Order: sequence, then structure tokens, then C-alpha cells
Amino acid sequence: MKVSAALAEELSSLPKPATVMVIGEVDTGKTTLVVLLARWLQSASRKVAIVDADIGQADIGPPGFVSYGLVEDQLTSLRSVTRQASYMVGNTSPYSRGLNLVAGIQACVRSAHRDGADVTLVDTGGLVKGVAGIQLKCAKAETIRPDLIIALSTPGVEPLTGYLKQSGFRIRRFLPIPGARVRSLGERKDARISRWNSYLGSNPQLADVDLSSVTVRRWPGESRYVDTGQVPHGTVAAVQDPRQPGFHIPCIWTVTADEEGEAGSRSSIMIPEPLEDLPAVVWVSGYRLELEGTKVVSA
Ligand SMILES: Nc1ncnc2c1ncn2[C@@H]1O[C@H](COP(=O)(O)OP(=O)(O)OP(=O)(O)O)[C@@H](O)[C@H]1O
Ligand SMILES: [Mg+2]
Repeated sequence: MKVSAALAEELSSLPKPATVMVIGEVDTGKTTLVVLLARWLQSASRKVAIVDADIGQADIGPPGFVSYGLVEDQLTSLRSVTRQASYMVGNTSPYSRGLNLVAGIQACVRSAHRDGADVTLVDTGGLVKGVAGIQLKCAKAETIRPDLIIALSTPGVEPLTGYLKQSGFRIRRFLPIPGARVRSLGERKDARISRWNSYLGSNPQLADVDLSSVTVRRWPGESRYVDTGQVPHGTVAAVQDPRQPGFHIPCIWTVTADEEGEAGSRSSIMIPEPLEDLPAVVWVSGYRLELEGTKVVSA
């Protein structure tokens, strides 16, 4: 699949640095298009960053987080992008978490520009319809001020594109990617499980949470009640990323029996690599995973 002449012209005339946001309904080929755009821009010697703002079907980081990465090698899929940093939203659905999602996208776009990206591509989730979709996508656009918005045009996205156009954004419509197919809820769930397991990697580490020295707090972006005094096993959590202030290391809260067999007395966070320093705060969300040992089996 190739970038069309019309799209190539749009990309060639982008300022430096530039931000491009891709919008469209679910399963219209947004992510496939982002990969195509990244490859075209790479071949035009542009340094490309990708912000993955699809918290439900995340590709760069685990679900429930906005993540970004810089494109280094010849890109084959969004999953092959090395994660640079993540920002916790704490759920796979954007409903009632829009403010937090927008804050995360802005943090990622800013950081990608600081990292020297010529073009930052923003992949988004498929919520574009109704008050919630229009509000969310307009807030994203107003916050990051993309130089170009590419809409995969279906009747459902038209009200939103109208709003964006009236707000003065440069918006170009293209047909949905031919061959893009509808994924079932089961496939979407399997994709989330697989993303969590590939994030954790082959050797996940358990870092003990010493409750006498660590503060456990509900993530402010979380809209649901969370009992911070008794955080359930499998809860999605986050600690500050020491290398990237304002970003988070995604982790999973685990509860195991201690030596005397007293259930619930040992709390840890599961992370891909050991932490250099113990965190002062662990943020917990209302998003819960099912675990078997250190493997995620439901997400
Ligand atoms: N040309 C193609 N041939 C075959 N399959 C394709 C093609 N383009 C996309 N697909 C598949 O169609 C599905 C939807 O495409 P994609 O993930 O790019 O859409 P999306 O709009 O990003 O979806 P979502 O809203 O879930 O993020 C994916 O499983 C993708 O692998
Ligand atoms: Mg996608």
C-alpha cells in the first residue's frame, strides 16, 4: 500500500516541526495509515515520532496509557515502535476520562518535539460520534493544534470534521484504508492481553511496596472509586518515570500471601525491569486485570 499523490503533497508541505492527527471511526485503518505516513516521512528523511492515543487498542505501550515513541528502524507495525514514555489514563475507555487523556496526549506531543521529532503523528481511538466523540476530538485538536488533521472519511465522522473545519483546522479527508476489517470484541480483548504481556516482557519483576514508606493514591484521572487501603490484585497502577518527569512507568499491583500464609499481607508492583529507586507514590486506577502468575490473562 502506498501514500497517494494528494497525501504526499500534504506531507511535503508540512512545516518543521509539525504535528499530524489521524481521526476516523473504529476499524477504518487509522493505525495502518499512521504506519504508512511514518514510512513515507522516513523515506523523505524526516525524524518521526508517534503518539499512540488509543487507550483501548494501544500499540506502543500497554492499554490504559497514552504512549509515544520515536521511529528508528524501517517501520512494519506500530507495535515495533520502541516506547519512549507513557502517561496513565487508567482505563481502556475514554468516557469520563477525557481530560486526563487530553493531558496525556499533550505531554507526549510536547516531549516528542523536545526529542527533536520533525513530524509527530498522533493515532487516535475510534470515538468520534455524538457529544462525547466531538467534545473529545475537538479538545485534543485545540490542545495540540495539529498542522494537519487526516480524517478517514465515513458518514459517522462528518459532524466532527465539520466542527474541526469551522474551528480553522487544516483537515483533509481520505477514504478508509481498503482491506481494513472489523475486529470482534474477542479480538480486541486478545490484543489488549497481548499488549500487556509484551509490555511486561519475558522477565517481569516484582517490587515490594513497603506501605510504611510508600503513599498509595488514587490516580486523579480515575473517575471510579478505588480502595487505596486494600488495592485488589491485578489493579493497573503507575509510578513516576524517573527518566521522564511527568510520565509514568505502567505497573500492575499484585497481592500475595506472605511466608506465614496470611493472604493479602504482601503487596508488590509488577514491572518489566527493576526500579532504580523505590517510588514515593504509587498511583492506582480502577482498571483491573486478571493474572495467572505473572501472565495477564484478561484485560
Ligand atoms: N490492507 C489491508 N489488508 C488486510 N488487513 C488490513 C488492511 N488494512 C488494515 N487491515 C486490518 O484491518 C484492521 C483495522 O485496521 P486498523 O487497525 O489500521 O484500523 P483502526 O482504525 O486503527 O482501528 P481501531 O479503531 O481499532 O484503532 C486491523 O486488523 C488491520 O490489521
Ligand atoms: Mg488503531
